[in-house]
Amino acid sequence: MAPAPTSTYSSITLSVNGDKHTLTVDHRTTLLDALRERLDLTGTKKGCDQGQCGACTVLLDGRRTVACLQLAVAAEGRAITTIEGLAEGEQLHPAQQAFLDLDGYQCGYCTPGQICSAVAMIEEHAAGWPSAVTDDVRPEAGPPPLTADEIRERMSGNLCRCGAYVSIVQAVARAAAVRAETTATAHTTHTTMTTQTQGAA
Ligand code: FES
Ligand code: FES
Repeated sequence: MAPAPTSTYSSITLSVNGDKHTLTVDHRTTLLDALRERLDLTGTKKGCDQGQCGACTVLLDGRRTVACLQLAVAAEGRAITTIEGLAEGEQLHPAQQAFLDLDGYQCGYCTPGQICSAVAMIEEHAAGWPSAVTDDVRPEAGPPPLTADEIRERMSGNLCRCGAYVSIVQAVARAAAVRAETTATAHTTHTTMTTQTQGAA
């Protein structure tokens, strides 16, 4: 049974994958332990438990973070997305599909973290964030080409002890290409509809 709130325990409500969960936690409980031990969301993995391997990567308000270094109480009020929340029903997220199609894993232990990290990384890149290997970091230069070096650098916080890096890089590149294609199609559709609407006015 969950302990009652005291000076060292608090009742918090976490929003995970669109669902709200109210639980009482020790203030020292990490978000990783709350997800795995209290909410049974075991897709998020514990590797090093000290912020070095990336296995526990989740999204907080769309930004990637390592859940082992976040306190659960500090995640209240944020939108938490775990690997369990990426698919839309039976439809896998493009990053999940790319990892599957291109064998971006061996044992699979690092894979949930790799995929969550990739999802946010692709958005960071599309928003024009430079990395340590970006040649032209001027904002007006826009996003650099998403080369293998860029992907490796941007994904360097996610370790894979199986060494599946070659396939992981390919899978991330595929997911980024799908995202770019989807965005371009949505833009074309929006432009066409706007033109038609204006023409009809
Ligand atoms: S378990 Fe969190 S970074 Fe390794
Ligand atoms: S697939 Fe085994 S640790 Fe990455």
